Amino acid sequence: MTKPAKEPFEGHKKLERNITLLAVATFVTVAIGGLVEIAPLFWIDNTIEEVEGMRPYTPLEQAGRDIYVREGCYSCHSQMIRPFRDEVERYGHYSLAAESMYDHPFQWGSKRTGPDLARVGGRYSDEWHVQHLTNPQSVVPESVMPQYSFLGKTELEVPDASAQLTALRRVGVPYSDRDIQLAAGDIEIQADPDAGGDVADFQQRYPKAQVRDFDGDPSRITEMDALVAYLQMLGTLVDFGSAAAQEELAQEKGR
Ligand code: HEC
Repeated sequence: MTKPAKEPFEGHKKLERNITLLAVATFVTVAIGGLVEIAPLFWIDNTIEEVEGMRPYTPLEQAGRDIYVREGCYSCHSQMIRPFRDEVERYGHYSLAAESMYDHPFQWGSKRTGPDLARVGGRYSDEWHVQHLTNPQSVVPESVMPQYSFLGKTELEVPDASAQLTALRRVGVPYSDRDIQLAAGDIEIQADPDAGGDVADFQQRYPKAQVRDFDGDPSRITEMDALVAYLQMLGTLVDFGSAAAQEELAQEKGR
């Protein structure tokens, strides 16, 4: 009697019939995949390409952002334009990772009952925003957005603006010592530039910061001022028309 010819997948048979061996081999295989993905992250300095124009939020914008989070605007609005043609045509250039690099927490959102707000800055006037937030149905009759009229009646209270920036600096937002020291005053300078503060110095530290009375009531700084200041800067920092930005984009695509 001749011995049957050796089956071609003898080794594999052994592997499939020995549960321990199979588990170990599976683990080793999956671990290699994991290592290839994860290990390089420990050697590269940064996973986000810096993009020209990005700066930390001003203390007033940051206060507006906190109101945005407090009121749960993210439950109906996203802030991330995906790289699809329909989105880009409606909202503008798709969002770059760098555009939310100073967001703690980020506001990408997962629900769009209302439109994406990543580039809403400059699209409407301040008056429109105040009117819309006070009573959305007065400008968009079919809107299901709630009314936030109390924002215009509530004085903005930021108990310790410096402490807030310090906390953000601890998680990597590059505020300078001066930014932190001047934080409370910066809120006033931005919302009430005629009061005599050093606007030029403020705008040098926060390029492209818009300074004006946002809520139409120059006599005081309200939560409406802060929220409109925040909305009006969204998506305005990176200049997508500039040569530098085009170059960064080409690089980002090439990666
Ligand atoms: C219940 C869902 C809901 C919530 C909560 C909500 N919105 Fe809206 N929002 C909408 C809808 C729907 C629209 C579109 C109709 C309209 O313009 O009112 C809209 C429109 C907007 C627009 C105009 C966007 C554009 O491009 O036309 C802005 C700005 C806005 N919302 C800001 C906010 C802010 C700030 C908050 C939190 C204070 C908020 N929304 C909370 C549903 C919501």
